[in-house]
Amino acid sequence: MTLKNAVVTGANRGLGLEICKQLLEKKEYQRVFAICRSTSPDLKALEKDEKLQIIDNIQVMDHADTATRLTDYFQSTQLEPIPIHLLIHNAGAYGPSEGFSSFNEERHSQGIATITPERIRFAFELNTAAPLFITQALLSNLRAAAPEAKVAIISSAMGSISNNTSGEHYAYRASKAAVNMVGKGLAVDLSKDQIAVGLIHPGFVFTGFGNIKERIEGQRDVDESAKGVLDAVDCINLNNTGCFLHGNYGEGVKLMEW
Ligand SMILES: NC(=O)c1ccc[n+]([C@@H]2O[C@H](COP(=O)([O-])OP(=O)(O)OC[C@H]3O[C@@H](n4cnc5c(N)ncnc54)[C@H](OP(=O)(O)O)[C@@H]3O)[C@@H](O)[C@H]2O)c1
Repeated sequence: MTLKNAVVTGANRGLGLEICKQLLEKKEYQRVFAICRSTSPDLKALEKDEKLQIIDNIQVMDHADTATRLTDYFQSTQLEPIPIHLLIHNAGAYGPSEGFSSFNEERHSQGIATITPERIRFAFELNTAAPLFITQALLSNLRAAAPEAKVAIISSAMGSISNNTSGEHYAYRASKAAVNMVGKGLAVDLSKDQIAVGLIHPGFVFTGFGNIKERIEGQRDVDESAKGVLDAVDCINLNNTGCFLHGNYGEGVKLMEW
């Protein structure tokens, strides 16, 4: 069995934290690199497992600085790049944090009357551009793990064009639809390097996402969602590269409609 290295962005809370937890429990992973802006107590607590390495103070919307820091971290002290077998782009947000006190308030910031250039720009920088530029920065590390290397982008059903029957959410929906295209492009371009790419909808999950303070009907637990995401990761391969999957809370991975 190859011992693998995984990298997860947005690892300090929510889905990213739980994905790190579950990866640490898997025998095939020898290292889990947890990328975040600032280390939370929950992430710090995972450090008792020496397989976890925290890389903090990474501002993924500052693309140039992130690329430099990650390239330095994963290459500078090594003769060969550290192989990355799994890169999970998880960091994401509905929009800029503008002090909304509820999800209702926040969602109304992306309607036809309220959407602003700043909110569109923010969502694209974070949800669309960051996964592209981080993949670019870590390409030699992914190549070093091929043909076992996988890139998983946490997308959303909200980025599915055929699923959009309720309108609104302009910045979030458009940035996730656009990252689906980024993922598809990476799948085509990286197939010659034998690196597989997949887009994953994690389901509707009760995390800190979107200022939802109290659980909404239909929201699932974060551990079920992370289990589904990692099941979907297992399904991604060089034959289906560029697929859009629903982790389905560990109850059987499903294909998503674009
Ligand atoms: N929850 C859902 O129902 C749901 C559904 C579909 C898709 N998703 C996707 O799942 C992913 C994880 O979301 P979640 O539910 O775990 O949400 P969450 O609890 O709000 O966590 C979001 C993560 O992204 C990071 N992040 C947010 N803004 C950032 C920024 N400007 N720069 C760097 N990092 C930033 C956060 O770090 P900080 O602590 O530093 O802010 C945190 O680690 C996202 O891509 C989201 O779009 C979630």
